[in-house]
Formats: sequence, structure tokens, C-alpha cells
Amino acid sequence: MSEYKFPKDFIWGAAAASYQIEGAYNEDGKGESIWDRFTHQKGNILNGDTGDVACDHYHKYKKDVELMNKIGLDSYRFSISWPRIFPKGTGKINQKGLDFYKKLINELLKNDIKPVATLYHWNLPQVLQDRGGWSNRDTAKYFQEYALQVIDEFEGLVDQWITHNEPWVASFVGHAFGQHAPGEQDYQTALQSLHHILLSHGMVVKNFKEEKRDGQIGITVNLGDFQPASDKKEDLAATWRQDNFINKIVLDPLFRAKYPKDLFEFFEKNVGEVEIRDQDMSIISYPMDFLGVNYYSRNIIKHAEEQNILETKEVKVDDSQYTEMGWEVYPPGIYNVLERVHNEYSDLPLYITENGAAFDDKLTENGKVNDQDRINYLREHFKNAQRAIEDGIPLKGYYVWSIMDNFEWAYGYSKRFGLIYVDYKNNQKRYLKESAKWYREVIERNGIEVKE
Ligand code: BGC
Repeated sequence: MSEYKFPKDFIWGAAAASYQIEGAYNEDGKGESIWDRFTHQKGNILNGDTGDVACDHYHKYKKDVELMNKIGLDSYRFSISWPRIFPKGTGKINQKGLDFYKKLINELLKNDIKPVATLYHWNLPQVLQDRGGWSNRDTAKYFQEYALQVIDEFEGLVDQWITHNEPWVASFVGHAFGQHAPGEQDYQTALQSLHHILLSHGMVVKNFKEEKRDGQIGITVNLGDFQPASDKKEDLAATWRQDNFINKIVLDPLFRAKYPKDLFEFFEKNVGEVEIRDQDMSIISYPMDFLGVNYYSRNIIKHAEEQNILETKEVKVDDSQYTEMGWEVYPPGIYNVLERVHNEYSDLPLYITENGAAFDDKLTENGKVNDQDRINYLREHFKNAQRAIEDGIPLKGYYVWSIMDNFEWAYGYSKRFGLIYVDYKNNQKRYLKESAKWYREVIERNGIEVKE
């Protein structure tokens, strides 16, 4: 029997995002978001699914916190819907929207669960999109106003803030690939949006630190472990490009106050100029308190002409397991990305703010979900996280994605990531999956025991 122990103050959590679970899309004065608009347009989402009702967490939040308590979570990472607070993106606060989060936060605190709030998990107010969205520099200013007012309201209750979730996904999947809201397909818009998202992050961090606010502030980035399909020069070069495109394009500005030079020159030549003003890079890299890392999978990369603008292609490995998303299960990758950030970029405390997997879960007649695959996935990733800590990497907490099955963006409800099963057809009834019960034991033991 081997034991993998975690530090005494290690934070065990789970995460979700407002649009994916709340529903109540037009209640209590909430404004339209780009995801409301995008899902209501035919053909964008598998099976025509929308987040109109989602898991109805807006009404069932008490029950959900009770279940979090049953699992024994130390912390819950949720996101705040900007158009609930500012239906018009800016201007007058919608008190009822604020009240919802106040109730949620108080419920969490009552249950001894530390709330961690993400200020932007992709639901931009549609009115701001109508003015150009993230490619309009003003959106950064509006985000700053929104963020600081929310922080004001909850100071003392929430002590950990995440400005943005995955700036790369919000920019490229939404503005270059067209698979996410707002559904644009233009690399120049995507790059300009990325720059403004990062800028808005820095603006908020700068205010937060200069005003010596209570609590901590950071950002969550999606990082991949990119490995070449072969030793051929062209595959090595393709892997380097992909790594620049997904990892370095956010890590370099955040920690080195610059964008990866070759990649940016290539983009500027091929897709158009990005407007970057004098002080922008020093604002973006304003020192924060921690970095959140979302890790799901490794990507094996090959050179492929005309596959995409960077001439890269992902290939599968014969003997690997793949999740329902088609993502390879590759636990050492979590170690690799943490080590890379720590060695190459920063000594900051790190959090895994998302890690988890979608599998084809089945609810049995006696209300059980035997999700052994998810247990295996989590166990192996936990082991690698523990190895990172043993090697001196300052990993402080781990948030499983997700607390419950939810609206998986372009895939609608077809993919289940939850520790909790949601029966969408029966009033969104919740069931703890076997993985949730297993996770409870991990948290209780503050580690895992493995027969090896
Ligand atoms: C996002 C989540 C999403 C998850 C699985 C992350 O990119 O932050 O919202 O559900 O990955 O796709």
C-alpha cells in the first residue's frame, strides 16, 4: 500500500461556471449574454441545447451547497455572471443579481466552504458585444468597473478572486474558430480580444493591489502539454508553434511583459496588426498573488500543411485512453505543466483550478453512477500533483471540474464532467457519483492510498 499525502493546509475543491449551471437566463433583471444569444441561434450547439435552465442552480443552490458539504469540499470555485450584475454591461447595478451571489456566498461560508470567485467565465453582456465586444478596448474599462464593484461588495466574504477563466479559449475559440460565443471567425479579432482580456486582467490586479484590498487575486489559464509526434525537424517545429500559440501567448505577457516574438510577427504578417499601447504590457504583467492552471490532456503534434494557419495537427496514440471529449488521459502532463510554469515563469503559488474528465456515465435503477474511469483519472492526476509538491512546486489547491454535470458549451448536455450526476429529464435531480464518494475519502484522508 502506498500513501500519497498532501500538505496540511492543502485546499480540495470543485468548480463550475455561471452559464454552465445557473439557468434563470432572463430572471430577476438579468441582461442577455453572448452565450444566450449564441445558443439561441440554430446550429451553434449540439442538439440545440441552451443554458436557459441548465442545472437550475440559480434556484437549487442551497441543495447544491449541501451536496458540496456532503463531499467535504474545502472550497468551491464559481463564476459571476456579468450581465446578472450589470444587465447593460455598465451603469446601474442590478441588485437582485448581486443578491443571488450574496446568498450563495453566505451559504458556502455557513457550510465552511471557502468561496473562490471567477469574474469572467465567458458570459459577456450582449450589449457590449454589439459595440465590438473584447476587440473594443472600452470593454476592458467596463470589465474593470464591473470587477471592482463586485469586489467591493464581497470584500471580506470572498478572499480569492480570479479575473478571467482561460483568456486563450475566450479569444480564439470564440473569435477565430467560431465554436464558442460570439461565434466569430477572424484571427485578428481573436488576437485583439486576447490583448484586451489580458489588459483588463492587469487593470483589475493593479487596482486591487494598489488599493491594498483584502484577499488575493490571480488569473486562470489553460495549459497543455504539447509533445512532438516524432523527432523529425518539422514535427518539432510544429510542436514549438503550438506551444507558443496556446501556452506562451498567455504566459509570456503575464510574466515577461511581452508576447512570443516569432508567433506575433507571423500573426501580424498574416492576419493583421494588433493595437498594443505603450503601458499595456506593464499593466498586463502587474504582479498578482497566484496562478490558476486548468489542465485536461496532452497533445501530440505533427506538422501538417494546410491543416490550419499554423500548419499543425493533433494525432492520437494507439494505446492511450481517451475521454468522451476525445482527450487523451495523460496524468504526467499535470506535473509537466506545473513544473514548466514554476521553472520557467514564476515562484507564485499555483492552483489547479480545473481538472477532470467526461465519461459516458449511466444512472442505474438504484440511483448509482459507477464512474470508475473518473476515479482512475482523478487518482492518477492527484498522484502527479502530489509528486509536484514533493519536488518543491508550490501547488496549494486542486479544483475538480466539475462539481456537477452541466452545459458543456458547444457540446450542450451531451458530455458529463460532474462529481454529481444531474438528471436533466427529472427536474435536474442530483445524485452523488461514486467518484464524489471516493473524493470525500480523499479529502478526509488528505491524500490517497493506493494498492501498488
Ligand atoms: C472550461 C470549462 C469547460 C471545461 C471542459 C474548460 O475549458 O473552463 O468551462 O467546461 O474546460 O471543456
